[in-house]
Amino acid sequence: MTIGTLRARKREGQKISMLTCYDFSTAKLMEEAGIDSLLVGDTYAEVCLGHSTTLPAKLDHMVTITEAVRRGAPSAYLVGDMPYLSYQICSEEAIRNAGEFMSRAGCDCVKIEVDRRLVKTVEAMSAATIPVMAHLGLRPQSIQSVGGYKVQGKTAVDAIGLIEDAKMMEGAGAIALLLEAVPTEVAQIITESTSLPVIGIVSGPHVDGQVLVMHDMLGYGGGHPPKSVKQYAELYGQLVGAFRSYAAEVRSEAFPAAENSIAMDTTEVAELRRILSARGSDTTCAYPSSSPGV
Ligand code: KIV
Repeated sequence: MTIGTLRARKREGQKISMLTCYDFSTAKLMEEAGIDSLLVGDTYAEVCLGHSTTLPAKLDHMVTITEAVRRGAPSAYLVGDMPYLSYQICSEEAIRNAGEFMSRAGCDCVKIEVDRRLVKTVEAMSAATIPVMAHLGLRPQSIQSVGGYKVQGKTAVDAIGLIEDAKMMEGAGAIALLLEAVPTEVAQIITESTSLPVIGIVSGPHVDGQVLVMHDMLGYGGGHPPKSVKQYAELYGQLVGAFRSYAAEVRSEAFPAAENSIAMDTTEVAELRRILSARGSDTTCAYPSSSPGV
């Protein structure tokens, strides 16, 4: 998958599937399942590290896990999510940090959370040959300044602002857009007014592709994912059940059974017993030099 494939999908009206992914083994599963694009999101800080926001995600860590995801999914279109304050301070830092992501992690583009105030940064990154996916709408890295997780573009005036921001990102050289928590109608207008592939999360069916956080769609995180998230499995309950069975079987000694253990050849067992009984009660490690290999 390349950005060319994603653009062609948009032109041909074929939707793009994207999921967040944070490790090698899951990336392999997603690649085998034919997921088009994987996003190594900074939601990592929440779903894997247990923080209550995405802000504690660190660049070095993100690059390391993105590399692992690339090894598991060599063909998927891979998006590396730039963490909090890795691109907001100045364009030079944004370019340097994005370069680290692209060259070390082998991702196909980086994602940054933007509004019009970051147009110059997107321009500078694009000029430095860094493919940028511009994340608009609800921007989790800004929740402290915005005052929480809020749907964006709900009023006509706010929607105009969002539509203009999207246009500005296209003008600045972004290669794709990601819309989070944008009303369906606004997401449709943005999608129809740009040639860029538009991926949506809780932004309705008219965007070019969908992304979900894997823990939410797998029912892996426990608790109650937002109502708007469709759950495709209920792993939390299944996994707790598996761990509970294991703990019970260890306690009852049902595990390990013979097939879970390594048996010695019976002649070797007999020989071992003979050697040990010849030594009497001395089973320490002070083997006599006359018994090589024992
Ligand atoms: O970090 C992330 O996982 C994201 C998704 C919520 C789109 O940005």
